[in-house]
Amino acid sequence: MSSYSPRRVRDDTPLLNREINGRPITYLDSASSTLPPRPVIEAMSRYYELRHANVHRGVYQTAVEATDVYEGARAATARFINAPRGVDEIVFTKNTTEAFNLLAKSWGAAHLKAGDVVLVTEMEHHANIVPWFQLRDQIGIEVRFVPVSDDFRLDVSGLDRLLEGVKLFSFTAASNVLGTRNPVKELTRIAHDHGALVALDAAQSVGHQPSDVVDLDVDFFCFSAHKMLGPTGLGVLWTRAAILESMPPFLGGGGMIADVRVDGYVPANGPTRFEAGTPPIAETAGLAAAIRYLEGLGLENIARHEEDLTADALKRLANEFDGRVRIIGPADAVDRGGVLSLDVDGVHPHDVAQVLDQFGVCVRPGHHCAKPLMRRFNLAATARASFGPYSLTTDTDVLLEALESAVTMFG
Ligand code: ALA
Repeated sequence: MSSYSPRRVRDDTPLLNREINGRPITYLDSASSTLPPRPVIEAMSRYYELRHANVHRGVYQTAVEATDVYEGARAATARFINAPRGVDEIVFTKNTTEAFNLLAKSWGAAHLKAGDVVLVTEMEHHANIVPWFQLRDQIGIEVRFVPVSDDFRLDVSGLDRLLEGVKLFSFTAASNVLGTRNPVKELTRIAHDHGALVALDAAQSVGHQPSDVVDLDVDFFCFSAHKMLGPTGLGVLWTRAAILESMPPFLGGGGMIADVRVDGYVPANGPTRFEAGTPPIAETAGLAAAIRYLEGLGLENIARHEEDLTADALKRLANEFDGRVRIIGPADAVDRGGVLSLDVDGVHPHDVAQVLDQFGVCVRPGHHCAKPLMRRFNLAATARASFGPYSLTTDTDVLLEALESAVTMFG
C-alpha cells in the first residue's frame, strides 16, 4: 500500500535541510536533477562499505554480491517500466543523452540509410536532436521537425504528411522547458500506422508519473536515474528484445564481448553488449533504491500532487505581477508537468536567478539545452522553476516573494 506525503519525502531528503544565504533552501530545479532521499544515499554507501567489487568478473563473495546488486537493479528497472522480456531489454548507459547516442549510433547507423527520415519535434532536448544531425552528416538521413504551436503544444495538424517516409519518430514525453506533456499513446499509434518506430524521451516524466512501455506501446524508452531521485551517472535505454538483438555494439572494450582473438571479436549477447568497461555499480544500487522509494510513494500520487502544485503556481503567477512575469508554457495544468519557465519583462533570466538565489531559491536560467525551441519563441533564455515529489506550496510562496523582489529591483 502506498503512503505519500510530500512532507515526509522532504524529511527524508537531507539536502533540503540546508540553508542558502541565511534562508532555508527552496529547491525548484528538479527538471535539472532531483534530490536523492536518504534510502538512495544509504544504498550507495552500503554498497561501497560492504560489497564493492567489479561486476561480471570475480568469483569471490563480494564480487558475486556486487554482480547481484547490478543485475538486481536491472531486474528492478525492467519491472518498474514493465519491460515485457525483463532484464534482456534493459541497457544501462551513462544518462539519457548516452541512451539517445546509443540509439542513433547503433540502431540508426545499422538500420537507416541515406534519404530515410527521423522525425523529432521542435520541443526536444539537444540529446534527441544532435545525435540525429550527427547521423545525417554521416550517412545522409533527413531530420524533420514537428512544429510547436503558439499555445506551447505540438502542432500535429500536418503530422500525417510529416510522417511520410519516416522510419523513427523520436519525441519527448514532457518538455523540459514548457512543461507540456505530449499525448504519447496517440502519437505512437499514428506513427505506427505510418510504419515508423517510436522512441520516447522519458527523462522529464519518469520521476513524476507512472511509466509502462507496454501500455505506451513505444519501441525505445530513454531515461536517467538522477531525474527520479536516483544518482547521476546512470541512464537506461529500453527497447524490445528483438530490436536489441539487431543492434551492433556501440562502444568496444571489456565486458561487451563473447570472444576476442588476434583477427577479430565476437560481441556478447543481450544488454551487456552495450556496457563496455567497468559500469556504474554503486549507482545501480541507488537506482534500485530510488525505484523502491518511488513505488512506495506511488507515482500516481506524485503526479496528482505535482499537478495541484502547478495549477496553484500558474494561477498565482498569472495574477500577481501585472503581466510582468510571462509563463513560457501552457497556461493551465491540464496535460502539463510541474515545469515553469519564466520570462520576466526587462530582466535577464540570469539576473532573475541570481536575485532568487539570495532567497535560497534554486532555479535554472538558460536555454535548457533546447535551442530550437527557444528560437521558436524568440527567446535566448528563461528562468525555469520545476517541482519534484518533495515540493510544497510553501516553495511557491518563496518563489513569488523572490520574484517580487526581482521585479521591483529591476523595475
Ligand atoms: N536536461 C536537464 C534540464 O533540463 C539538465 O535541466
